[in-house]
Amino acid sequence: MSAPPESQYSDQAGTQPDRNELHIPSDAELAEMSTDDLVRLGNRIDDIEVVSDRPRFPVPGTRAEKRAERQVAGWFIMAAVMGLAFIVIFIAWPWEYVSPGQEGDLLYVLYTPLIGATLGLSVLGVGMGVIAYSKKLLPEDLTIQQRHDGRSSEVDRRTAAARLVQTGQQSGLPRRKLIFRSLGAAGGILTAGIAVAAFGGLVKNPWKEGDESPLLVTDWKSENGERVYLRKFNGDPEEVVLVRAGDLEPGSMETVFPFREADREDPEHLAEVVRSSDSPVMLIRLRPNVPMIKRAGQEDFNYGSLVAYSKICSHMGCPTSLYEDQTNRILCPCHQSQFQANEYARPIFGPAARPLAQLPIAVDDQGYLYARSDFIEPVGPGFWERRSS
Ligand code: FES
Repeated sequence: MSAPPESQYSDQAGTQPDRNELHIPSDAELAEMSTDDLVRLGNRIDDIEVVSDRPRFPVPGTRAEKRAERQVAGWFIMAAVMGLAFIVIFIAWPWEYVSPGQEGDLLYVLYTPLIGATLGLSVLGVGMGVIAYSKKLLPEDLTIQQRHDGRSSEVDRRTAAARLVQTGQQSGLPRRKLIFRSLGAAGGILTAGIAVAAFGGLVKNPWKEGDESPLLVTDWKSENGERVYLRKFNGDPEEVVLVRAGDLEPGSMETVFPFREADREDPEHLAEVVRSSDSPVMLIRLRPNVPMIKRAGQEDFNYGSLVAYSKICSHMGCPTSLYEDQTNRILCPCHQSQFQANEYARPIFGPAARPLAQLPIAVDDQGYLYARSDFIEPVGPGFWERRSS
């Protein structure tokens, strides 16, 4: 079947006919029509009035066109370079915490700004490249369309698709190799960068050390049978002050950290221990005559009226630093969970569902408090492979 005569569908700006007067081609006729025919037909059907439609560069290959191409490609190249820099920094930059004043602290401080800046510049480059392309290289057209309600017909969909194809052809992307390649590089690298950011943190096996894996042990664990004492921390990791049972007034709370005598001359390790998120413990002396309810299996974890609980909230890991001595409640400021200090820190309010992990404590013959063992359950929020309740 032959294509309908072009004049039947030709554009005539400002002379939009009634849609009912148009000849709507059959499927077979549609299949025979060229892209231009379909575009013209679509314009008529959709009441699109093409006011003007002229290419930016009627003569291809001029110096002005090449200059515009280089400007657009420049943005995409910048996006690709920044995307690549983001991936390299994300993977290779030293990101582990370094205290201010210590060697490497500047590199650590720069990590977050650098990954933010490089990823941001990469996204910006792609966006600016697309804007520059549409402003400098796409044909300048001005069209007016009336809005219609309801779902589009098959004819409408086919003609709209043809319009997209024609736009792609008019954009000249296939023949603009520099832009095509730089856009491909920028898009590919940016996508890879986003994938690295999303999944990079998962490329690590937290269980590779078996029962010694970081989620299962803390610095309260004894090594070589050496006692782990409770120490205060006044801001200087090297100033070790151990805690005696009599140091706390009834109804008071002290935040304590683990200390091994073997670490005394190792300032780096001392600093590392107090920085570790699962180290801080709330040591609480309950008021006299406060009844204590103990958890099964933890009956001897307290020392008299002294109890010690991990400070890490069992909901989402915030520090539960608030102790209210009149009600014996420990409060988490993040989502208002409350734990009953004299009842093995069981949750009594808020979203937390599990007690705070309790540290078993005892006193040596000089009156200093020490941990009888590590926590018997993981501290903080639950995780999928968690074995205890
Ligand atoms: S982290 Fe403590 S209540 Fe949510």
